[in-house]
Amino acid sequence: MKTSLCWVALILCILHCVRLSAAQDLLPNCSYPAVYAFGDGLTDVGNAIAAFPEKFAHAELDPNGIEFPMHPADRFCDGKLLVDFLAFGVRRRPIYPVLRGTSPDFRYGTNFAAVGGSARNVTLYSKASGPYYTPFSLDVQLQWFERYKIRLWFYEYMNPGIVVQPLPTLNSINQSLFLVYAGYQDYFYSLYDKTLTPRQALNIVEEVVESIGTLIEGMLKVSVYYPPGSPSYVMPAAKDILVLGLPPLGCIPAMLTIYQTPGAKYNSHGCLSDLNKITTKHNRLLGEKVIALREKYPDTLRLLYGDIHGVYTDILKNPEAYNITEPLKACCGVGGSYSFNKDVTCGHLGTVGNEMVNLTGTTPCFNHKAHLSWDGVHTSDAFNKAAVTAFLTGKHIYPEGGFQCSPDFTFWNARM
Ligand SMILES: *[C@@H]1O[C@H](CO)[C@@H](O)[C@H](O)[C@H]1NC(C)=O
Ligand SMILES: *[C@@H]1O[C@H](CO)[C@@H](O)[C@H](O)[C@H]1NC(C)=O
Ligand SMILES: *[C@@H]1O[C@H](CO)[C@@H](O)[C@H](O)[C@H]1NC(C)=O
Ligand SMILES: *[C@@H]1O[C@H](CO)[C@@H](O)[C@H](O)[C@H]1NC(C)=O
Ligand SMILES: *[C@@H]1O[C@H](CO)[C@@H](O)[C@H](O)[C@H]1NC(C)=O
Repeated sequence: MKTSLCWVALILCILHCVRLSAAQDLLPNCSYPAVYAFGDGLTDVGNAIAAFPEKFAHAELDPNGIEFPMHPADRFCDGKLLVDFLAFGVRRRPIYPVLRGTSPDFRYGTNFAAVGGSARNVTLYSKASGPYYTPFSLDVQLQWFERYKIRLWFYEYMNPGIVVQPLPTLNSINQSLFLVYAGYQDYFYSLYDKTLTPRQALNIVEEVVESIGTLIEGMLKVSVYYPPGSPSYVMPAAKDILVLGLPPLGCIPAMLTIYQTPGAKYNSHGCLSDLNKITTKHNRLLGEKVIALREKYPDTLRLLYGDIHGVYTDILKNPEAYNITEPLKACCGVGGSYSFNKDVTCGHLGTVGNEMVNLTGTTPCFNHKAHLSWDGVHTSDAFNKAAVTAFLTGKHIYPEGGFQCSPDFTFWNARM
């Protein structure tokens, strides 16, 4: 009796396992004609340096991009950004910045994100605006996207054959993958430059989320294009969008350093509680916005929400599982409890106290793979990899199941 029960249990178990793996095998390959991205310095792959080469010169200098396949990388990261992993994961290649003039390759899509790309409209910009600002807020990025579609139309329908550059087709827009990763700029640099207190930053959350919603609605809108002297054309819209929340602000080394005040409250992971409240509120409202937009645009194929905060917290809870030994310290930075000092940031030379500091070399820390933060501001290759791995395997992504396709991790660690 006992043994037969065991047999039944074993057979049930085998059946179950076979079914599970069959379900996995049945998933189609993740594969998109193209990838497009909107956002700020966490997603910029060269728009800021293309627009303002001197201001952003250090983006292509060591140690930025030391691990990137095509170093110099124009990225504020040791290796790949989140958008790079996403592109590889869905069988594409890293996408080029829309402003890239020399030797661009737009076969796999286009990246509209830019350093300074706040969610809220930039209304005032001058040459004197600080080193992390540009005029390229999401409203401008949406204009770039509209313009991009018009150019595709022009080359495909107006002047076929005139352009030798391979580009995605206009009709592939509604099968492509879109990434929206915004809002970090709005909070981070307001707090960094102390133009807002943490309490005031809590009050801009509604406006930031509203601006992200406006971008998404602009992307989803099927508009009619009226070319002068030609029949009108129904412009395709985005249909498959991944919207990301934000990492916990209070765990970012620059914030931990700047707001390390005597009365500061910390959570169990050593992050600043008051700052985490800002991103927690942002993520909650953004999640609600995404749900509301799904209802408003039922024809949208997919509007996914990726919980970056959830991934970050998972790692803080169990850093060893991710080979992270320095969860709260910058790799490329100097001094203090968090390896960050505003006076000499990554890619620069300077003095701290009486000491000369050189952060322009290729080895800014002992092991950059052990850090969640690259330069105290931007997340590291290690974090970006963990986040996209989670999303592509259905973790921390909503609705449940996420992409429901089989990703490709071939280039995860490749330097190519
Ligand atoms: C999925 O992609 C892999 C390569 O990444 C390829 O070997 C495989 O044949 C593809 N499967 C399908 C069903 O297209
Ligand atoms: C932001 O700018 C766009 C134009 O670029 C405009 O249509 C929109 O109304 C502005 N949003 C706000 C909140 O001012
Ligand atoms: C994409 O747009 C084209 C025309 O612009 C249309 O023919 C096609 O059905 C659309 N595909 C989807 C998946 O919506
Ligand atoms: C951690 O490091 C080990 C040994 O190098 C490696 O096998 C493992 O894949 C790494 N884990 C992650 C999540 O990177
Ligand atoms: C800073 O370090 C880099 C790499 O080690 C070196 O090439 C450069 O000469 C150093 N600069 C100064 C001013 O010491």
